[in-house]
Amino acid sequence: MENDNKVQEFVKKYYGKILKSSSDLKTTACCTTDAPPLYLRQALKNVPTEIQERYYGCGSPLPAEIEGLTVVDLGSGSGRDCYVSAALTGPTGQVIGVDMTDEQLEVAREHVESYCRDLGYPESNLQFRHGYIEFLNEAGIANNSIDLVISNCVVNLSPDKERVMSGVVDILKEGGEFYFSDVYCDRRLPEEVRQHELLYGECIAGALYTEDFIRLAHKAGFADPRVLSQSPIEITDAELKPIVGEAKFSSITYRLFKLPSLETLCEDYGQVATYTGGISGQESGFLFDDHHYFIKNKPYLVCGNTASMLEETRLGKYFTIHGKRDTHFGLFDCASPETATLTPPGGACC
Ligand SMILES: C[S@@+](CC[C@H](N)C(=O)[O-])C[C@H]1O[C@@H](n2cnc3c(N)ncnc32)[C@H](O)[C@@H]1O
Repeated sequence: MENDNKVQEFVKKYYGKILKSSSDLKTTACCTTDAPPLYLRQALKNVPTEIQERYYGCGSPLPAEIEGLTVVDLGSGSGRDCYVSAALTGPTGQVIGVDMTDEQLEVAREHVESYCRDLGYPESNLQFRHGYIEFLNEAGIANNSIDLVISNCVVNLSPDKERVMSGVVDILKEGGEFYFSDVYCDRRLPEEVRQHELLYGECIAGALYTEDFIRLAHKAGFADPRVLSQSPIEITDAELKPIVGEAKFSSITYRLFKLPSLETLCEDYGQVATYTGGISGQESGFLFDDHHYFIKNKPYLVCGNTASMLEETRLGKYFTIHGKRDTHFGLFDCASPETATLTPPGGACC
């Protein structure tokens, strides 16, 4: 799309006036079909139907064990993920949804009072603010004040993704996490695709090439982004399919930590991590990312970055980390027999 304002005006029209429910979508990009885990299914049951019907997310950016956290949802839409997060953060947490489309905010705000009353939480625990994800301070979100930033199928719609990423780093506290699902592409899309209005609104044309996203994350200050899950996106519409050609799209959930100790590569300091349990729904083992599954009470050799992510964040209370970074053994070797014996079948560990 030609310029930033035109992009945003079209996106507002698409989500405010054109789409009325998830069934109006032309691709599967903005519509998660995967079954959510049990703790989410239970929380989802209490989310009002009208909100669920206007859900346009592509993943499940809702981590477990977020009690007491302050959470911001970028592009919260009709608010499904905020309602779920509000239940999970509990009476001492707070959830703030930010969106630029009035019609979406209107639906999101409609049920806040009754929902919080039913939960027995103060109404101020769940707020929806008008704002742009490129300018979070203007939505009243202070730097270094947020524990967790989530987002579901929104960053692809931003004409200035670099500003979004650096803004997220700014508002997160040290040790905070950006845990989000979005649409990515296996290549840089040609101009004619990027200019296609309908494909843009459907979260396809603005999708980043995955390698460019990694570069952007590094530049913003998020070293070592971790993939949690990914699934392919189908473009089934007969008119849209030929426009994208051979490009392949997927929905990916990443977790990125604001930690100054993270390095650009996985380094070996001989550190060992043990999950001691306590994360609900993951009693016998914890899935940290797509290549780390920690069986409870079993020690695993991990790289320095993984050790930091497990020790210096909200996950710290569920892990014991042995060793510091005082002795360096070189680059972390995922294929070494020593690592392999400490890694669950099928899982590398760097
Ligand atoms: C695909 S919908 C996803 C909505 C919601 N996250 C969900 O899962 O249902 C995209 C939402 O992002 C909002 N949005 C897009 N670009 C934005 C921006 N730059 N600033 C704020 N909101 C934005 C749109 O208004 C829309 O509500």
